[in-house]
Amino acid sequence: TSAHVETDVLIVGSGPAGASAALFLSTLGIDNIVITKYRWTANTPRAHITNQRAMEIFRDMGIEDQVLADATGHDLVGDTVFCTSIAGEEIGRIHTWGTRPDREADYRLASPCLTVDIPQTYLEPILVKNATVRGTQTRFSTEYLAHKQDDTGVTVRVRDRLTGQEYDIRARYLIGADGARSRVAEDIGLPYEGAMDIAGSMNITFKADIASYVGHRPSVLYWVIQPGANVGGIGAGLVRMVRPWNEWLIVWGYDIDSEPPVVDETEAIRIVRQLLGIPDLEVEITGTSLWGNNEMYATHLHKGRVFCAGDAVHRHPPSNGLGSNTSVQDSYNLAWKLAAVLRGQADPSLLETYSAERAPVAKRIVTRANKSSREFVDIFQALGVLDAKDEDEMRALIEERKANTPEGAAKRAALVAAMETKNYEFNAHGVELGQFYESAAVVSDGTRPAPSRDEDLYHVMSTSPGAHLPHAWVGDHVTRLALMDLAPYTRWTLITGIAGEDWTGAAEKVAQDFGIPLKTVVIGPGREVTDLYYDWAKLREVEESGAILVRPDKHVAWRSMNLADDPEAALRDALVQLLGKA
Ligand code: FDA
Repeated sequence: TSAHVETDVLIVGSGPAGASAALFLSTLGIDNIVITKYRWTANTPRAHITNQRAMEIFRDMGIEDQVLADATGHDLVGDTVFCTSIAGEEIGRIHTWGTRPDREADYRLASPCLTVDIPQTYLEPILVKNATVRGTQTRFSTEYLAHKQDDTGVTVRVRDRLTGQEYDIRARYLIGADGARSRVAEDIGLPYEGAMDIAGSMNITFKADIASYVGHRPSVLYWVIQPGANVGGIGAGLVRMVRPWNEWLIVWGYDIDSEPPVVDETEAIRIVRQLLGIPDLEVEITGTSLWGNNEMYATHLHKGRVFCAGDAVHRHPPSNGLGSNTSVQDSYNLAWKLAAVLRGQADPSLLETYSAERAPVAKRIVTRANKSSREFVDIFQALGVLDAKDEDEMRALIEERKANTPEGAAKRAALVAAMETKNYEFNAHGVELGQFYESAAVVSDGTRPAPSRDEDLYHVMSTSPGAHLPHAWVGDHVTRLALMDLAPYTRWTLITGIAGEDWTGAAEKVAQDFGIPLKTVVIGPGREVTDLYYDWAKLREVEESGAILVRPDKHVAWRSMNLADDPEAALRDALVQLLGKA
Protein backbone atom coordinates (compact mmCIF):
# COMPACT_ATOMS: atom_id res chain seq x y z
CA THR A 1 0.00 0.00 0.00
CA SER A 2 1.27 3.44 -0.78
CA ALA A 3 1.13 6.49 1.43
CA HIS A 4 -1.52 9.05 0.74
CA VAL A 5 -1.14 12.72 1.49
CA GLU A 6 -3.66 15.55 1.13
CA THR A 7 -3.34 19.25 0.50
CA ASP A 8 -5.21 22.12 -1.13
CA VAL A 9 -2.59 23.02 -3.72
CA LEU A 10 0.31 20.90 -4.91
CA ILE A 11 3.08 22.80 -6.67
CA VAL A 12 5.60 21.03 -8.89
CA GLY A 13 8.88 22.96 -8.99
CA SER A 14 10.77 25.26 -6.64
CA GLY A 15 12.02 27.75 -9.26
CA PRO A 16 10.85 31.36 -9.31
CA ALA A 17 7.33 30.33 -10.40
CA GLY A 18 6.85 27.44 -7.98
CA ALA A 19 8.61 28.83 -4.92
CA SER A 20 6.75 32.13 -5.23
CA ALA A 21 3.41 30.36 -5.71
CA ALA A 22 4.11 28.55 -2.44
CA LEU A 23 5.03 31.81 -0.72
CA PHE A 24 1.87 33.53 -1.93
CA LEU A 25 -0.41 30.65 -0.95
CA SER A 26 1.18 30.29 2.48
CA THR A 27 0.93 34.04 3.02
CA LEU A 28 -2.78 33.70 2.28
CA GLY A 29 -3.05 30.78 4.71
CA ILE A 30 -3.73 28.17 2.02
CA ASP A 31 -2.43 24.67 2.68
CA ASN A 32 0.17 23.72 0.07
CA ILE A 33 2.99 21.35 -0.75
CA VAL A 34 5.94 21.99 -3.06
CA ILE A 35 7.73 19.05 -4.61
CA THR A 36 10.95 19.53 -6.49
CA LYS A 37 13.11 17.06 -8.30
CA TYR A 38 16.55 17.94 -6.95
CA ARG A 39 18.00 18.05 -3.45
CA TRP A 40 18.15 21.85 -3.45
CA THR A 41 17.24 24.91 -5.49
CA ALA A 42 18.87 26.20 -8.72
CA ASN A 43 22.52 25.13 -8.99
CA THR A 44 23.57 27.84 -11.48
CA PRO A 45 22.98 31.62 -11.33
CA ARG A 46 20.49 31.65 -14.27
CA ALA A 47 18.03 34.56 -14.19
CA HIS A 48 19.18 37.64 -12.30
CA ILE A 49 17.63 40.93 -13.48
CA THR A 50 14.80 41.53 -11.07
CA ASN A 51 12.47 44.23 -12.27
CA GLN A 52 10.27 46.69 -10.45
CA ARG A 53 7.11 44.60 -10.57
CA ALA A 54 8.88 41.60 -9.11
CA MET A 55 10.44 43.78 -6.41
CA GLU A 56 7.01 45.26 -5.62
CA ILE A 57 5.72 41.72 -5.16
CA PHE A 58 8.58 40.94 -2.77
CA ARG A 59 7.80 44.17 -0.95
CA ASP A 60 4.17 43.11 -0.68
CA MET A 61 5.31 39.78 0.77
CA GLY A 62 7.49 41.53 3.34
CA ILE A 63 10.73 40.05 1.92
CA GLU A 64 12.06 43.05 -0.01
CA ASP A 65 14.79 43.61 2.59
CA GLN A 66 15.94 40.01 2.33
CA VAL A 67 16.14 40.24 -1.45
CA LEU A 68 17.99 43.56 -1.35
CA ALA A 69 20.45 42.19 1.19
CA ASP A 70 21.53 39.50 -1.28
CA ALA A 71 21.21 41.58 -4.45
CA THR A 72 23.65 43.77 -6.35
CA GLY A 73 22.08 47.20 -6.01
CA HIS A 74 20.54 49.38 -8.67
CA ASP A 75 23.55 51.71 -8.71
CA LEU A 76 25.75 48.88 -10.03
CA VAL A 77 23.56 47.44 -12.77
CA GLY A 78 23.42 50.12 -15.39
CA ASP A 79 26.59 50.92 -17.36
CA THR A 80 26.19 48.21 -19.95
CA VAL A 81 29.20 47.99 -22.22
CA PHE A 82 29.74 46.80 -25.80
CA CYS A 83 33.36 45.98 -26.49
CA THR A 84 35.79 43.81 -28.39
CA SER A 85 36.89 42.29 -25.08
CA ILE A 86 36.72 43.39 -21.45
CA ALA A 87 40.30 44.66 -21.57
CA GLY A 88 39.99 45.73 -25.20
CA GLU A 89 38.33 48.50 -27.15
CA GLU A 90 34.98 49.82 -26.08
CA ILE A 91 32.43 50.29 -28.85
CA GLY A 92 29.86 51.99 -26.67
CA ARG A 93 27.80 52.00 -23.53
CA ILE A 94 24.14 52.17 -22.82
CA HIS A 95 22.46 53.09 -19.56
CA THR A 96 20.35 50.03 -18.74
CA TRP A 97 17.47 49.09 -16.48
CA GLY A 98 16.31 52.66 -16.04
CA THR A 99 19.64 54.20 -15.05
CA ARG A 100 19.80 56.92 -17.71
CA PRO A 101 18.82 60.10 -15.85
CA ASP A 102 15.74 60.83 -17.94
CA ARG A 103 14.62 57.20 -17.86
CA GLU A 104 15.43 56.91 -14.18
CA ALA A 105 12.70 59.49 -13.62
CA ASP A 106 10.19 57.29 -15.46
CA TYR A 107 11.22 54.29 -13.40
CA ARG A 108 11.18 56.11 -10.07
CA LEU A 109 7.82 57.70 -10.76
CA ALA A 110 6.28 54.37 -11.63
CA SER A 111 7.25 52.28 -8.61
CA PRO A 112 8.54 52.39 -5.05
CA CYS A 113 11.18 49.82 -6.13
CA LEU A 114 14.06 49.80 -8.58
CA THR A 115 15.51 47.05 -10.73
CA VAL A 116 18.27 45.09 -8.99
CA ASP A 117 20.32 42.00 -9.77
CA ILE A 118 19.91 38.83 -7.77
CA PRO A 119 21.01 35.52 -9.26
CA GLN A 120 18.57 32.66 -9.00
CA THR A 121 20.95 30.82 -6.69
CA TYR A 122 20.32 33.59 -4.15
CA LEU A 123 16.65 34.35 -4.86
CA GLU A 124 15.23 30.84 -4.77
CA PRO A 125 16.44 30.06 -1.23
CA ILE A 126 14.79 33.27 -0.01
CA LEU A 127 11.48 32.32 -1.60
CA VAL A 128 11.63 28.71 -0.41
CA LYS A 129 12.64 29.70 3.11
CA ASN A 130 9.85 32.21 3.56
CA ALA A 131 7.25 29.93 2.01
CA THR A 132 8.31 27.11 4.30
CA VAL A 133 8.37 29.31 7.41
CA ARG A 134 4.83 30.43 6.54
CA GLY A 135 3.46 26.92 6.17
CA THR A 136 4.50 25.28 2.91
CA GLN A 137 5.49 21.62 3.12
CA THR A 138 8.63 21.54 1.00
CA ARG A 139 9.76 18.19 -0.37
CA PHE A 140 13.11 18.09 -2.14
CA SER A 141 14.30 15.10 -4.19
CA THR A 142 10.69 14.40 -5.06
CA GLU A 143 9.67 13.95 -8.65
CA TYR A 144 6.34 14.45 -10.34
CA LEU A 145 5.43 11.39 -12.38
CA ALA A 146 1.81 11.66 -13.48
CA HIS A 147 -1.61 12.89 -12.43
CA LYS A 148 -5.31 12.21 -12.82
CA GLN A 149 -7.98 14.80 -12.21
CA ASP A 150 -11.66 14.42 -11.42
CA ASP A 151 -14.47 16.71 -10.28
CA THR A 152 -13.10 17.33 -6.82
CA GLY A 153 -9.35 17.24 -7.17
CA VAL A 154 -6.16 15.90 -8.65
CA THR A 155 -4.30 12.75 -7.65
CA VAL A 156 -0.60 13.13 -8.32
CA ARG A 157 1.87 10.28 -8.45
CA VAL A 158 5.28 11.27 -7.11
CA ARG A 159 8.55 9.48 -6.43
CA ASP A 160 10.85 10.07 -3.50
CA ARG A 161 14.21 9.96 -5.25
CA LEU A 162 16.08 9.01 -2.10
CA THR A 163 14.10 5.90 -1.28
CA GLY A 164 12.64 5.23 -4.71
CA GLN A 165 9.26 5.01 -3.03
CA GLU A 166 6.26 6.19 -5.05
CA TYR A 167 3.18 7.67 -3.43
CA ASP A 168 0.10 9.73 -4.22
CA ILE A 169 -0.64 13.30 -3.21
CA ARG A 170 -4.26 14.31 -3.43
CA ALA A 171 -4.75 18.05 -4.02
CA ARG A 172 -7.70 20.25 -4.87
CA TYR A 173 -5.49 22.00 -7.47
CA LEU A 174 -2.15 21.34 -9.14
CA ILE A 175 0.34 23.97 -10.33
CA GLY A 176 2.93 22.83 -12.86
CA ALA A 177 5.85 25.19 -12.34
CA ASP A 178 8.28 22.62 -13.65
CA GLY A 179 10.18 24.75 -16.13
CA ALA A 180 10.78 24.79 -19.86
CA ARG A 181 10.57 21.01 -20.21
CA SER A 182 7.36 20.84 -18.18
CA ARG A 183 5.95 17.33 -17.83
CA VAL A 184 2.78 18.73 -16.29
CA ALA A 185 2.13 20.97 -19.31
CA GLU A 186 2.73 18.02 -21.60
CA ASP A 187 0.39 15.82 -19.59
CA ILE A 188 -2.47 18.31 -19.91
CA GLY A 189 -1.64 18.93 -23.57
CA LEU A 190 -1.31 22.71 -23.45
CA PRO A 191 -1.31 24.31 -26.90
CA TYR A 192 1.91 26.12 -27.88
CA GLU A 193 3.13 28.37 -30.64
CA GLY A 194 6.76 28.68 -31.68
CA ALA A 195 9.75 26.40 -31.47
CA MET A 196 12.29 25.09 -28.97
CA ASP A 197 16.06 24.91 -29.41
CA ILE A 198 16.28 27.49 -32.18
CA ALA A 199 19.84 28.41 -31.18
CA GLY A 200 22.56 27.09 -28.90
CA SER A 201 24.28 28.75 -25.95
CA MET A 202 26.98 27.64 -23.60
CA ASN A 203 27.36 28.95 -20.07
CA ILE A 204 30.70 29.10 -18.30
CA THR A 205 30.78 30.23 -14.69
CA PHE A 206 34.10 31.34 -13.28
CA LYS A 207 35.84 33.29 -10.57
CA ALA A 208 38.33 36.03 -11.40
CA ASP A 209 38.81 39.45 -9.86
CA ILE A 210 38.52 41.93 -12.72
CA ALA A 211 37.45 44.97 -10.70
CA SER A 212 40.10 47.13 -12.33
CA TYR A 213 38.54 46.52 -15.78
CA VAL A 214 34.88 47.02 -14.86
CA GLY A 215 34.54 48.82 -11.53
CA HIS A 216 34.57 52.26 -13.17
CA ARG A 217 31.75 51.26 -15.57
CA PRO A 218 29.65 49.09 -13.27
CA SER A 219 27.16 46.85 -14.98
CA VAL A 220 25.65 43.42 -14.95
CA LEU A 221 26.29 42.88 -18.65
CA TYR A 222 29.37 43.32 -20.82
CA TRP A 223 28.74 42.41 -24.46
CA VAL A 224 31.64 41.20 -26.50
CA ILE A 225 31.87 41.46 -30.30
CA GLN A 226 34.38 38.89 -31.51
CA PRO A 227 34.46 36.48 -34.45
CA GLY A 228 31.65 33.98 -33.91
CA ALA A 229 29.83 36.22 -31.43
CA ASN A 230 26.81 36.42 -33.71
CA VAL A 231 26.42 32.64 -34.00
CA GLY A 232 23.46 31.11 -32.14
CA GLY A 233 22.51 32.14 -28.65
CA ILE A 234 21.54 35.56 -27.43
CA GLY A 235 22.97 37.77 -30.16
CA ALA A 236 26.52 38.40 -28.97
CA GLY A 237 29.07 37.09 -26.51
CA LEU A 238 28.25 38.05 -22.94
CA VAL A 239 30.28 38.45 -19.79
CA ARG A 240 27.71 38.66 -17.03
CA MET A 241 28.41 39.71 -13.49
CA VAL A 242 27.27 37.25 -10.85
CA ARG A 243 28.88 38.98 -7.87
CA PRO A 244 30.80 42.26 -8.25
CA TRP A 245 33.51 41.92 -9.47
CA ASN A 246 34.89 38.47 -8.93
CA GLU A 247 32.20 36.00 -9.99
CA TRP A 248 31.09 35.82 -13.59
CA LEU A 249 29.09 33.93 -16.15
CA ILE A 250 29.99 33.83 -19.82
CA VAL A 251 27.36 33.11 -22.41
CA TRP A 252 28.73 32.20 -25.81
CA GLY A 253 26.67 30.93 -28.75
CA TYR A 254 27.18 27.84 -30.84
CA ASP A 255 25.60 26.49 -33.99
CA ILE A 256 22.80 24.25 -32.78
CA ASP A 257 22.73 22.38 -36.09
CA SER A 258 26.25 21.03 -35.66
CA GLU A 259 27.78 18.77 -33.00
CA PRO A 260 27.49 20.33 -29.52
CA PRO A 261 30.91 21.70 -28.56
CA VAL A 262 32.95 19.97 -25.89
CA VAL A 263 33.76 22.53 -23.20
CA ASP A 264 36.37 21.01 -20.93
CA GLU A 265 38.31 23.08 -18.43
CA THR A 266 41.08 23.98 -20.87
CA GLU A 267 38.59 25.10 -23.49
CA ALA A 268 36.58 27.03 -20.88
CA ILE A 269 39.68 28.88 -19.70
CA ARG A 270 40.58 29.66 -23.31
CA ILE A 271 37.11 31.14 -23.98
CA VAL A 272 37.18 33.18 -20.74
CA ARG A 273 40.62 34.63 -21.47
CA GLN A 274 39.64 35.42 -25.04
CA LEU A 275 36.40 37.24 -24.16
CA LEU A 276 38.14 39.09 -21.37
CA GLY A 277 41.12 39.86 -23.57
CA ILE A 278 43.52 39.04 -20.74
CA PRO A 279 45.75 36.17 -21.97
CA ASP A 280 47.34 35.33 -18.63
CA LEU A 281 44.30 35.90 -16.40
CA GLU A 282 44.07 33.64 -13.40
CA VAL A 283 40.69 31.90 -13.69
CA GLU A 284 38.85 29.36 -11.60
CA ILE A 285 36.22 27.63 -13.72
CA THR A 286 33.25 26.68 -11.54
CA GLY A 287 30.95 25.14 -14.12
CA THR A 288 29.95 24.78 -17.76
CA SER A 289 26.67 23.86 -19.42
CA LEU A 290 24.93 23.97 -22.77
CA TRP A 291 21.38 25.22 -23.21
CA GLY A 292 18.94 25.80 -26.05
CA ASN A 293 17.30 29.10 -26.90
CA ASN A 294 13.56 28.90 -27.31
CA GLU A 295 10.79 30.95 -28.83
CA MET A 296 7.65 29.33 -27.56
CA TYR A 297 4.58 30.27 -25.56
CA ALA A 298 1.40 28.52 -24.53
CA THR A 299 -1.83 30.04 -25.79
CA HIS A 300 -3.85 28.49 -22.96
CA LEU A 301 -2.47 27.93 -19.48
CA HIS A 302 -4.61 25.38 -17.71
CA LYS A 303 -6.85 22.39 -18.00
CA GLY A 304 -9.50 21.93 -15.35
CA ARG A 305 -7.77 21.93 -11.98
CA VAL A 306 -4.24 21.92 -13.37
CA PHE A 307 -2.47 25.23 -14.02
CA CYS A 308 0.96 25.89 -15.49
CA ALA A 309 3.15 28.90 -14.71
CA GLY A 310 6.62 30.21 -15.50
CA ASP A 311 8.87 28.75 -18.17
CA ALA A 312 6.36 25.92 -18.47
CA VAL A 313 4.27 28.39 -20.50
CA HIS A 314 6.83 30.92 -21.82
CA ARG A 315 10.25 29.97 -23.14
CA HIS A 316 12.60 32.59 -24.50
CA PRO A 317 16.20 33.85 -24.32
CA PRO A 318 17.32 35.89 -21.30
CA SER A 319 17.21 39.10 -23.38
CA ASN A 320 15.16 41.79 -21.57
CA GLY A 321 15.57 39.81 -18.35
CA LEU A 322 11.96 38.72 -18.26
CA GLY A 323 12.08 35.00 -17.41
CA SER A 324 12.13 34.89 -13.65
CA ASN A 325 10.17 38.15 -13.31
CA THR A 326 7.30 36.93 -15.44
CA SER A 327 7.31 33.59 -13.64
CA VAL A 328 6.87 35.28 -10.26
CA GLN A 329 4.13 37.49 -11.71
CA ASP A 330 2.26 34.50 -13.16
CA SER A 331 2.03 32.96 -9.73
CA TYR A 332 1.03 36.29 -8.19
CA ASN A 333 -1.90 36.36 -10.60
CA LEU A 334 -2.89 32.76 -9.91
CA ALA A 335 -2.46 32.28 -6.16
CA TRP A 336 -5.04 34.77 -4.88
CA LYS A 337 -7.60 33.38 -7.31
CA LEU A 338 -7.00 29.83 -6.05
CA ALA A 339 -7.34 31.10 -2.48
CA ALA A 340 -10.59 32.92 -3.25
CA VAL A 341 -12.07 29.84 -4.89
CA LEU A 342 -10.84 27.44 -2.18
CA ARG A 343 -12.43 29.68 0.45
CA GLY A 344 -15.72 29.79 -1.44
CA GLN A 345 -15.43 33.55 -1.93
CA ALA A 346 -15.42 33.24 -5.71
CA ASP A 347 -16.90 30.90 -8.26
CA PRO A 348 -14.39 28.46 -9.82
CA SER A 349 -14.87 30.34 -13.11
CA LEU A 350 -12.54 33.00 -11.65
CA LEU A 351 -9.71 30.56 -12.33
CA GLU A 352 -10.36 30.78 -16.08
CA THR A 353 -9.21 34.39 -15.95
CA TYR A 354 -5.66 33.27 -15.16
CA SER A 355 -5.19 32.05 -18.70
CA ALA A 356 -7.13 34.97 -20.21
CA GLU A 357 -4.85 37.43 -18.40
CA ARG A 358 -1.47 35.73 -18.51
CA ALA A 359 -1.41 34.03 -21.93
CA PRO A 360 -1.18 37.43 -23.71
CA VAL A 361 1.71 38.36 -21.38
CA ALA A 362 3.50 35.11 -22.27
CA LYS A 363 3.19 35.91 -25.96
CA ARG A 364 4.35 39.48 -25.50
CA ILE A 365 7.48 38.65 -23.53
CA VAL A 366 8.54 35.73 -25.71
CA THR A 367 8.17 37.92 -28.79
CA ARG A 368 10.04 40.83 -27.23
CA ALA A 369 12.94 38.75 -25.91
CA ASN A 370 13.51 37.04 -29.23
CA LYS A 371 13.27 40.28 -31.16
CA SER A 372 15.83 41.83 -28.83
CA SER A 373 18.33 39.03 -29.30
CA ARG A 374 17.92 39.27 -33.09
CA GLU A 375 18.40 43.03 -33.03
CA PHE A 376 22.02 42.54 -32.01
CA VAL A 377 22.66 42.01 -35.68
CA ASP A 378 22.28 45.79 -36.15
CA ILE A 379 25.51 46.32 -34.22
CA PHE A 380 27.38 43.75 -36.31
CA GLN A 381 25.94 45.34 -39.43
CA ALA A 382 26.83 48.83 -38.29
CA LEU A 383 30.42 47.72 -37.81
CA GLY A 384 30.30 45.83 -41.10
CA VAL A 385 31.72 42.70 -39.47
CA LEU A 386 29.02 40.16 -40.26
CA ASP A 387 31.11 38.45 -42.92
CA ALA A 388 34.52 38.95 -41.34
CA LYS A 389 36.49 35.77 -41.88
CA ASP A 390 38.97 36.05 -39.03
CA GLU A 391 39.97 38.13 -36.07
CA ASP A 392 42.34 40.32 -38.09
CA GLU A 393 39.71 41.24 -40.64
CA MET A 394 37.18 41.89 -37.88
CA ARG A 395 39.64 44.10 -36.02
CA ALA A 396 40.32 46.12 -39.17
CA LEU A 397 36.61 46.57 -39.85
CA ILE A 398 35.93 47.69 -36.28
CA GLU A 399 38.93 50.01 -36.51
CA GLU A 400 37.35 51.69 -39.52
CA ARG A 401 34.81 53.46 -37.27
CA LYS A 402 37.66 55.78 -36.26
CA ALA A 403 38.50 56.86 -39.79
CA ASN A 404 37.93 60.35 -41.10
CA THR A 405 36.40 58.91 -44.27
CA PRO A 406 32.86 58.57 -45.62
CA GLU A 407 32.98 54.87 -44.58
CA GLY A 408 34.04 55.82 -41.08
CA ALA A 409 31.27 58.42 -40.83
CA ALA A 410 28.68 55.94 -42.08
CA LYS A 411 29.78 53.43 -39.45
CA ARG A 412 29.54 55.98 -36.67
CA ALA A 413 26.04 56.98 -37.77
CA ALA A 414 24.94 53.35 -38.05
CA LEU A 415 26.27 52.69 -34.55
CA VAL A 416 24.20 55.52 -33.11
CA ALA A 417 21.08 53.91 -34.56
CA ALA A 418 22.04 50.37 -33.56
CA MET A 419 22.75 51.39 -29.97
CA GLU A 420 19.44 53.26 -29.83
CA THR A 421 17.63 50.06 -30.79
CA LYS A 422 19.09 48.27 -27.76
CA ASN A 423 16.83 50.37 -25.54
CA TYR A 424 14.18 47.83 -26.51
CA GLU A 425 16.17 45.20 -24.69
CA PHE A 426 17.51 47.16 -21.76
CA ASN A 427 14.97 49.90 -21.03
CA ALA A 428 11.70 48.34 -22.11
CA HIS A 429 9.76 49.85 -19.24
CA GLY A 430 6.44 49.39 -21.04
CA VAL A 431 7.03 45.67 -21.45
CA GLU A 432 8.26 45.36 -17.87
CA LEU A 433 5.36 47.19 -16.21
CA GLY A 434 2.57 47.61 -18.72
CA GLN A 435 0.64 44.39 -18.31
CA PHE A 436 -3.03 45.13 -18.91
CA TYR A 437 -5.68 42.51 -18.21
CA GLU A 438 -8.91 41.90 -20.08
CA SER A 439 -11.02 39.16 -18.53
CA ALA A 440 -14.08 38.45 -16.41
CA ALA A 441 -11.99 39.42 -13.36
CA VAL A 442 -12.01 43.02 -14.58
CA VAL A 443 -15.10 45.20 -15.05
CA SER A 444 -14.05 47.15 -18.10
CA ASP A 445 -15.36 50.67 -18.58
CA GLY A 446 -14.22 50.62 -22.18
CA THR A 447 -11.03 52.55 -21.47
CA ARG A 448 -7.40 51.48 -21.54
CA PRO A 449 -4.19 53.33 -20.76
CA ALA A 450 -3.50 55.73 -23.64
CA PRO A 451 0.15 55.56 -24.72
CA SER A 452 1.58 58.77 -26.12
CA ARG A 453 5.02 57.24 -26.61
CA ASP A 454 6.39 53.85 -27.69
CA GLU A 455 4.48 51.15 -25.82
CA ASP A 456 7.46 48.84 -25.32
CA LEU A 457 9.76 51.55 -24.00
CA TYR A 458 7.38 53.63 -21.90
CA HIS A 459 4.89 52.71 -19.25
CA VAL A 460 1.67 54.64 -18.85
CA MET A 461 0.13 54.70 -15.40
CA SER A 462 -3.63 54.55 -15.37
CA THR A 463 -6.56 53.44 -13.24
CA SER A 464 -8.40 51.98 -16.24
CA PRO A 465 -9.83 48.67 -15.06
CA GLY A 466 -7.27 46.00 -16.00
CA ALA A 467 -4.26 48.27 -15.46
CA HIS A 468 -1.89 48.03 -12.50
CA LEU A 469 -2.56 50.46 -9.67
CA PRO A 470 -0.41 53.58 -10.30
CA HIS A 471 2.36 54.40 -7.87
CA ALA A 472 2.08 57.44 -5.63
CA TRP A 473 3.62 58.21 -2.27
CA VAL A 474 1.09 58.66 0.52
CA GLY A 475 1.31 58.88 4.28
CA ASP A 476 1.60 61.54 6.91
CA HIS A 477 4.26 63.70 8.55
CA VAL A 478 6.07 60.68 9.96
CA THR A 479 5.37 57.87 7.53
CA ARG A 480 5.81 57.58 3.79
CA LEU A 481 4.15 54.65 2.08
CA ALA A 482 3.61 53.59 -1.49
CA LEU A 483 -0.09 53.59 -2.26
CA MET A 484 0.28 49.93 -3.21
CA ASP A 485 1.44 49.20 0.38
CA LEU A 486 -2.14 49.99 1.41
CA ALA A 487 -3.53 47.40 -0.97
CA PRO A 488 -1.84 44.21 0.28
CA TYR A 489 -2.19 40.78 -1.28
CA THR A 490 -4.33 39.54 1.57
CA ARG A 491 -7.38 41.57 0.61
CA TRP A 492 -9.30 43.69 -1.87
CA THR A 493 -8.91 47.44 -1.40
CA LEU A 494 -11.23 50.28 -2.31
CA ILE A 495 -9.47 53.60 -2.75
CA THR A 496 -11.36 56.86 -2.55
CA GLY A 497 -11.03 60.46 -1.37
CA ILE A 498 -12.74 62.49 1.33
CA ALA A 499 -15.70 63.33 -0.89
CA GLY A 500 -16.12 59.58 -1.41
CA GLU A 501 -16.27 58.60 2.25
CA ASP A 502 -19.73 57.15 1.73
CA TRP A 503 -18.07 54.28 -0.09
CA THR A 504 -16.69 53.07 3.25
CA GLY A 505 -19.97 51.90 4.72
CA ALA A 506 -21.06 50.44 1.41
CA ALA A 507 -17.84 48.45 1.16
CA GLU A 508 -18.19 47.11 4.69
CA LYS A 509 -21.68 45.90 3.98
CA VAL A 510 -20.78 44.30 0.67
CA ALA A 511 -17.62 42.69 2.06
CA GLN A 512 -19.69 41.06 4.77
CA ASP A 513 -22.31 39.81 2.34
CA PHE A 514 -19.73 38.32 -0.02
CA GLY A 515 -17.48 37.09 2.78
CA ILE A 516 -14.40 38.70 1.27
CA PRO A 517 -11.65 40.74 2.90
CA LEU A 518 -12.16 44.29 1.59
CA LYS A 519 -10.97 47.52 3.14
CA THR A 520 -11.58 51.11 2.10
CA VAL A 521 -8.66 53.53 2.11
CA VAL A 522 -9.64 57.21 2.17
CA ILE A 523 -6.86 59.47 0.92
CA GLY A 524 -6.87 63.04 2.10
CA PRO A 525 -5.74 65.42 4.82
CA GLY A 526 -6.65 64.21 8.29
CA ARG A 527 -7.41 60.69 7.05
CA GLU A 528 -5.44 57.43 7.29
CA VAL A 529 -3.05 58.74 4.66
CA THR A 530 -2.78 61.88 2.64
CA ASP A 531 -1.57 62.48 -0.91
CA LEU A 532 1.90 63.65 0.16
CA TYR A 533 3.08 65.17 -3.13
CA TYR A 534 -0.37 65.81 -4.63
CA ASP A 535 0.54 63.20 -7.24
CA TRP A 536 -2.34 60.84 -6.63
CA ALA A 537 -4.87 63.57 -7.43
CA LYS A 538 -3.33 63.79 -10.89
CA LEU A 539 -3.00 60.04 -11.39
CA ARG A 540 -6.31 58.71 -10.13
CA GLU A 541 -8.34 59.77 -13.22
CA VAL A 542 -11.55 59.55 -11.16
CA GLU A 543 -13.14 62.40 -9.21
CA GLU A 544 -12.24 62.79 -5.56
CA SER A 545 -15.56 61.11 -4.78
CA GLY A 546 -14.87 58.26 -7.19
CA ALA A 547 -13.61 54.85 -6.16
CA ILE A 548 -11.04 52.38 -7.43
CA LEU A 549 -11.38 48.73 -6.51
CA VAL A 550 -7.98 47.03 -6.42
CA ARG A 551 -7.54 43.26 -6.60
CA PRO A 552 -5.07 41.48 -4.32
CA ASP A 553 -2.55 41.47 -7.22
CA LYS A 554 -2.78 45.30 -7.52
CA HIS A 555 -4.65 45.37 -10.79
CA VAL A 556 -7.66 47.66 -10.94
CA ALA A 557 -10.78 45.49 -10.96
CA TRP A 558 -13.38 48.23 -11.31
CA ARG A 559 -13.74 51.96 -10.88
CA SER A 560 -16.48 54.51 -10.45
CA MET A 561 -15.71 57.98 -11.76
CA ASN A 562 -17.63 59.63 -8.90
CA LEU A 563 -19.79 58.77 -5.92
CA ALA A 564 -22.59 56.53 -7.17
CA ASP A 565 -26.20 57.34 -6.20
CA ASP A 566 -26.27 53.96 -4.53
CA PRO A 567 -22.65 53.07 -3.73
CA GLU A 568 -23.59 49.74 -2.18
CA ALA A 569 -25.47 48.61 -5.29
CA ALA A 570 -22.68 49.80 -7.59
CA LEU A 571 -20.05 47.89 -5.64
CA ARG A 572 -22.27 44.85 -5.36
CA ASP A 573 -22.83 44.74 -9.13
CA ALA A 574 -19.09 44.91 -9.73
CA LEU A 575 -18.29 42.13 -7.28
CA VAL A 576 -21.02 39.89 -8.64
CA GLN A 577 -19.17 39.90 -11.93
CA LEU A 578 -15.67 39.82 -10.49
CA LEU A 579 -16.35 36.87 -8.21
CA GLY A 580 -18.55 35.08 -10.73
CA LYS A 581 -21.46 35.19 -8.29
CA ALA A 582 -24.22 35.76 -10.85
P1 FDA B 1 12.63 26.75 -13.38
O1 FDA B 1 13.21 26.06 -14.54
O2 FDA B 1 13.42 27.76 -12.68
O3 FDA B 1 12.20 25.71 -12.29
C1 FDA B 1 11.65 24.46 -12.60
C2 FDA B 1 11.52 23.68 -11.32
O4 FDA B 1 10.80 22.49 -11.56
C3 FDA B 1 12.84 23.27 -10.71
O5 FDA B 1 12.77 23.49 -9.32
C4 FDA B 1 12.93 21.79 -11.01
O6 FDA B 1 13.65 21.10 -10.03
C5 FDA B 1 11.47 21.42 -10.98
N1 FDA B 1 11.10 20.22 -11.77
C6 FDA B 1 11.22 20.03 -13.09
N2 FDA B 1 10.70 18.85 -13.43
C7 FDA B 1 10.24 18.29 -12.30
C8 FDA B 1 9.57 17.07 -11.99
N3 FDA B 1 9.25 16.17 -12.93
N4 FDA B 1 9.25 16.81 -10.71
C9 FDA B 1 9.54 17.71 -9.73
N5 FDA B 1 10.13 18.88 -9.96
C10 FDA B 1 10.48 19.16 -11.24
N6 FDA B 1 17.11 33.52 -17.48
C11 FDA B 1 17.65 34.74 -17.48
O7 FDA B 1 16.91 35.71 -17.39
N7 FDA B 1 19.00 34.90 -17.54
C12 FDA B 1 19.83 33.84 -17.64
O8 FDA B 1 21.05 34.00 -17.75
C13 FDA B 1 19.29 32.57 -17.64
N8 FDA B 1 20.08 31.48 -17.73
C14 FDA B 1 19.54 30.25 -17.63
C15 FDA B 1 20.37 29.16 -17.63
C16 FDA B 1 19.86 27.89 -17.51
C17 FDA B 1 20.79 26.71 -17.51
C18 FDA B 1 18.46 27.73 -17.39
C19 FDA B 1 17.87 26.36 -17.23
C20 FDA B 1 17.62 28.83 -17.42
C21 FDA B 1 18.15 30.09 -17.54
N9 FDA B 1 17.33 31.22 -17.54
C22 FDA B 1 17.89 32.43 -17.55
C23 FDA B 1 15.87 31.14 -17.50
C24 FDA B 1 15.33 31.31 -16.10
O9 FDA B 1 16.08 30.52 -15.25
C25 FDA B 1 13.86 30.92 -16.12
O10 FDA B 1 13.13 31.87 -16.87
C26 FDA B 1 13.24 30.79 -14.74
O11 FDA B 1 13.99 29.96 -13.93
C27 FDA B 1 11.83 30.21 -14.88
O12 FDA B 1 11.36 29.86 -13.63
P2 FDA B 1 10.40 28.62 -13.43
O13 FDA B 1 10.11 28.59 -11.99
O14 FDA B 1 9.27 28.69 -14.38
O15 FDA B 1 11.25 27.35 -13.90
